[in-house]
Amino acid sequence: MTDFATIYKLSIIAFAYAVQVYGATCPVLECWFVQEKSGRGFPAAMSQEKSLLYVGTDPVSTGTRTKNLPADIDAARIYHVTDPGAAFCSSPLCPPEGSVRKPQCEINPFLPHPAVVQWAAPLTESAHSPIYLQADWLSVSAQGLDGQLTLSSVMRAPTNTNKPSVIVSVFSRTASVRARLGAPVVLDCGFWTESSSPLTTGGFSVEWRYQFRGEGRLVLAYDGKNDRLAQTTEEGAQLDIAALHQTGNASLILQEAQVRHSGTYICSVYLPYLLSQVSINLEVEAPSLSVSPSTPQVLLPGQSLSLQCRASGFTPLPLELRWEFLGADGELRPLVGGRVSGHTQARDGTFTQSSWVEVGQGGVDLGGAGEVVCVGVHAGGTRRARVSLSVIGLRGPTVEDSMAMVAVALGLYGLIVS
Ligand SMILES: *[C@@H]1O[C@H](CO)[C@@H](O)[C@H](O)[C@H]1NC(C)=O
Repeated sequence: MTDFATIYKLSIIAFAYAVQVYGATCPVLECWFVQEKSGRGFPAAMSQEKSLLYVGTDPVSTGTRTKNLPADIDAARIYHVTDPGAAFCSSPLCPPEGSVRKPQCEINPFLPHPAVVQWAAPLTESAHSPIYLQADWLSVSAQGLDGQLTLSSVMRAPTNTNKPSVIVSVFSRTASVRARLGAPVVLDCGFWTESSSPLTTGGFSVEWRYQFRGEGRLVLAYDGKNDRLAQTTEEGAQLDIAALHQTGNASLILQEAQVRHSGTYICSVYLPYLLSQVSINLEVEAPSLSVSPSTPQVLLPGQSLSLQCRASGFTPLPLELRWEFLGADGELRPLVGGRVSGHTQARDGTFTQSSWVEVGQGGVDLGGAGEVVCVGVHAGGTRRARVSLSVIGLRGPTVEDSMAMVAVALGLYGLIVS
């Protein structure tokens, strides 16, 4: 009786597992096959051909769907992909049949090679490359609808078979992330490796790089073979090492989003001779700072002017608001005597705060023309807002004053026409 119950239970578990793995809908992906054109030329010319990927989680389901092959695709560009990890078989890559919008996909020839970076070099310490590498290697990058999934895989096919199997996949469910200043951020990245491949027994490494306008830096690097984190200057960035080993969760955790964190992050996973990576965009919403009035001002003798500076959208507290004056002579000096309001909190949890300063007669004597600058100093970064000011002298307009007035008029004119 107990035996029967056990068998019964086991078969239910086996069935559930079969549905989970084999029941996953795997896509037929339209991809661009892109490779360097053979021949000379710099930069190398690229060729682009239509290609089709029939994906399945096991070789049987992959090989069966060969009916109705499209006529406009070269048979050499039709691939039957086995993806046991089923990274390709998630809904963002499987739009409903007949859908006009399609996932983006590109496939390229891939050349296995030892990594040179310090945290991945130990993966290929044994000098010779295994015979296993002698095969057709391909890399695929795909992006699901609405940026819900970015996936990059390296696949191996026995030479000239067009039947590649995925060896490593790296994916992110958040191709672009908006974060509030000061709040913690998770940049999602996960990976899967084929455990039966001789390469996966050699260990793995994970690297996070940051890029913005052509500049890059290493955020974090982990040598999984020696269980060692590389030295970096980045503070407040973390990996969950236990999750990394257990579930392939390589997500980057930034403890406090700062304006300087905005940019592109690249999550790379190294296996011996292989590298796969996805990129994620992070935008940290900066607080806004504005001075009113915002147009150039003219100050007449005996007149005074009240300026307001308003900071909004910042978190956490505190924020320091102060005033500076940049004279026409290029000298920067602090303006004291500003008044600061209390802060108010908006519904999204961010704060708003203002400061006022009075300049001219009865206020701070500026002594000449220049720019009044409001400075907002926050843990997330420092911002400035400015307004230009001309002061007309007591003894009637001097040449400089007249020029200032013309400049203001021109400035105003510029504001009006632009
Ligand atoms: C991966 O780790 C991050 C940070 O610890 C977590 O927020 C996220 O939910 C994890 N992802 C999965 C798929 O478990």
